[in-house]
Amino acid sequence: MSVPSVKELLSTNPASQEVVIDGWVKTFRSNRFIALNDGSTIHNIQCVVDFENYDEQLLKKINTGSALKVTGALVESQGRGQNVEIQVSEIFVHGDADPEVYPIQPKKHSMEFLREQAHLRVRTNTFSAVMRVRSALSFAIHQYFQQNGFYYFHAPIVTGSDAEGAGEMFRVTTLDAKRPPTTEDGEVNFKEDFFGKETNLTVSGQLEAEAYAMGLGKVYTFGPTFRAENSNTSRHLAEFWMIEPEMAFYDLDDNMDLAEDFIKSVIKYVLENCQDDLAFLEKRLLDEEKTKPQAERSYMALIEKLKFVSENTFKRVTYTEAIQILRNSKPNKKKKFQFPIDEWGADLQSEHERFLVEKHFKCPVILFDYPAKIKSFYMRLNEDGKTVGAMDILFPGIGEIVGGSQREERLDVLKEKMAALNIPEEELWWYLDLRKFGTAIHSGFGLGFERLVLFATGMGNIRDVIPFPRTPQNAEF
Ligand code: 4AD
Ligand code: MG
Repeated sequence: MSVPSVKELLSTNPASQEVVIDGWVKTFRSNRFIALNDGSTIHNIQCVVDFENYDEQLLKKINTGSALKVTGALVESQGRGQNVEIQVSEIFVHGDADPEVYPIQPKKHSMEFLREQAHLRVRTNTFSAVMRVRSALSFAIHQYFQQNGFYYFHAPIVTGSDAEGAGEMFRVTTLDAKRPPTTEDGEVNFKEDFFGKETNLTVSGQLEAEAYAMGLGKVYTFGPTFRAENSNTSRHLAEFWMIEPEMAFYDLDDNMDLAEDFIKSVIKYVLENCQDDLAFLEKRLLDEEKTKPQAERSYMALIEKLKFVSENTFKRVTYTEAIQILRNSKPNKKKKFQFPIDEWGADLQSEHERFLVEKHFKCPVILFDYPAKIKSFYMRLNEDGKTVGAMDILFPGIGEIVGGSQREERLDVLKEKMAALNIPEEELWWYLDLRKFGTAIHSGFGLGFERLVLFATGMGNIRDVIPFPRTPQNAEF
């Protein structure tokens, strides 16, 4: 039987009605007050127990983490900060949690410790708030595209192509079920050639999305992507979720307009629909900020920052303009950049991106028209012959959140670019077909979902905004 959620009960008018509720114990104070939570909201419902009426053995099972079914009267609460509470008449213990061994206790745990408890950490306030915001953002993303004439397209997970050409792929193989998993020498017994060619887990659904945009007009993907890049940073995962819209008949300006409108719209959605969780996450951040020296404190609180981004125009600058700015700047009085920008054509490092966003423009920045040499083969060559219609969106505290481009739709130019990079035409014959038959200008971009969740929640490490993070040397769960 379904029972109301804590969220529903907390907004119910109490009329001394009898209610039944399931949840986990957050705290149990003085053998009298159970703070119960079922994950529906950051707020707990207080359940008041007349402990004389209960068996001691039962009370002993009520600890942080125990799962209970509580029956009682929903009444107005005298307590501060809560409208209602439950006067308990019956308690059923679904399952207890021995305080001697249950890792999640009502105290502050470090993020590192909680990563080792990835299967339990969603029971903390911080992680439950983050995961509710993550869920709301997913919904907002689908809603945005569905309301704007896009079709949801499912890109394959197993693919033969390296869309980004960076070679950072996980190979797909099968074990041979007829033989033992390893040979006598300890070698793994792979069964070769399941697909008849080498395949990998996708690094991006873009190339396939292009094929579908050239038939459905406007499509978007929203799914997992995989990168075997060995970067142990707070911004990289080996498995992350990406949103990749692809639009026929869009040029680079249309692409930038869409990306900006899209990001603002989904941030507005969480501002309107996740107020309690954002307020909690903001307070958490403020407490953390207080422990830092004044100079290192963030100048904007979380909600203010989200409002700022959703209401202000992103600054658009070309790569060439950005290089000029960087050449004429110092990150601060004493220091130079660790990687000084000496020549046009160098790739920007995250220190440069952060300088542009956080120090120079103090707002999100869209950098466009990058040197062709540092970008992927599929990007459209500009008239100057040396830049491509690429665009990256850089965010405060995050760095690159979006990478996109107008695609090369001219068959001859695309073939030349592939030849220059030694990409065999046979490998991408179907991709070239898109340029042979009914080609048209088209554009798209990829938004790293976890980087968006990082921004929206103010969390500091990408490992803490995805349920079970995969990073080098780490796939315990
Ligand atoms: O810039 P990227 O590599 O672009 C593409 O994959 C294009 N095919 C997208 C397209 O045009 N359809 O990746 C896009 C975004 C980055 O801006 C970043 O936000 C995120 O994906 N990203 C990662 N997020 C977490 N961990 C990683 N290892 C990431 N690599 C990229
Ligand atoms: Mg990129």
